[in-house]
Amino acid sequence: MAEANRSSRWSLQGMTALVTGGTKGIGYAIVEELAELGASVYTCSRNEAELNECLKQWATKGFQVSGSVCDMASSAQRKDLITKVSSVFNGKLNILVNNVGTNIVKNTLEFTEDDFSFLVRTNLESAYHITQLAHPLLKASQAASIVFISSGAGVVAVDIGSIYSAAKGAINQLTKNLACEWATDNIRANCIAPGIIKTPLSESHLEDGKLLEKYLRATPLGRLGEVKEVSSMVAFLCLPTASYITGQTICVDGGFTTELFLSKVQLAFSGSFQAQSSSSSPLPLCKTLDLTPASPEARLPSFRF
Ligand SMILES: NC(=O)c1ccc[n+]([C@@H]2O[C@H](COP(=O)([O-])OP(=O)(O)OC[C@H]3O[C@@H](n4cnc5c(N)ncnc54)[C@H](OP(=O)(O)O)[C@@H]3O)[C@@H](O)[C@H]2O)c1
Repeated sequence: MAEANRSSRWSLQGMTALVTGGTKGIGYAIVEELAELGASVYTCSRNEAELNECLKQWATKGFQVSGSVCDMASSAQRKDLITKVSSVFNGKLNILVNNVGTNIVKNTLEFTEDDFSFLVRTNLESAYHITQLAHPLLKASQAASIVFISSGAGVVAVDIGSIYSAAKGAINQLTKNLACEWATDNIRANCIAPGIIKTPLSESHLEDGKLLEKYLRATPLGRLGEVKEVSSMVAFLCLPTASYITGQTICVDGGFTTELFLSKVQLAFSGSFQAQSSSSSPLPLCKTLDLTPASPEARLPSFRF
């Protein structure tokens, strides 16, 4: 009996899921992870040939995945997508993963009005609107989970790509609002903020080796993330075993968002705080709050995407 309960808590068998942007990168891994755990998954992307190729691969693997072309930046196409999802899943959706997103890497003064509209439409408006449209389906399932994919760039400050960061920061806040607003409908809302993960999107920004070097220096685990390391956390948040988790933004980033903080305020424990210069601090035995101004060389180099 206990075994049966455990296996159902760690299974998505019988559940339905919509994952936006499932043909590449993190979205592709999420589709596979949810399907492997037993969910029936619907996905979308803009490129029909790539979508059909993916659907073929998943059918060969025995996964229940269907999908259709949708540009998530288009209001009309989002409405059409929800109509299709509702028809395939008989009006009930247990899981919504808002994965679609993109970045343009520029300094604030270089961004155009078109850049702003495009980035906010793709990263924030599309997720907001599809979530509104999905609400009746999520509610009808009686136990639903929304997972947003934001970014570490929406959790800590970086010195480039301010529109992307602002849109992702808004997603983190939206997660908390929905967790409060829709709890009575038994809908949970959580968010994952990845660090740099190996995908076609990040590859395009990593061509400049300097960015990679800076990211790795600011990341305690000292490496890029794998898509499976994000998709497994998405799956966990959707499982019945995560039923008391809502309103959270979880960083899957090798410690990137922690290290930025710790590099500026160095802490170790001795039972009481004492001001001490970082250069003379014997870290293992004392808790040191370094209040002395760092020399320009000692300061964390500003982080650039
Ligand atoms: N990779 C990273 O390092 C990283 C870090 C932090 C956060 N993230 C976030 O993680 C999410 C996924 O990123 P990724 O790196 O996996 O991206 P990716 O490699 O570019 O893959 C994006 C997927 O979404 C689809 N897509 C893009 N725009 C779309 C649109 N308007 N409508 C429908 N489908 C669309 C793409 O297919 P089509 O192009 O054919 O439409 C593709 O399947 C994004 O929200 C991103 O901001 C990524």
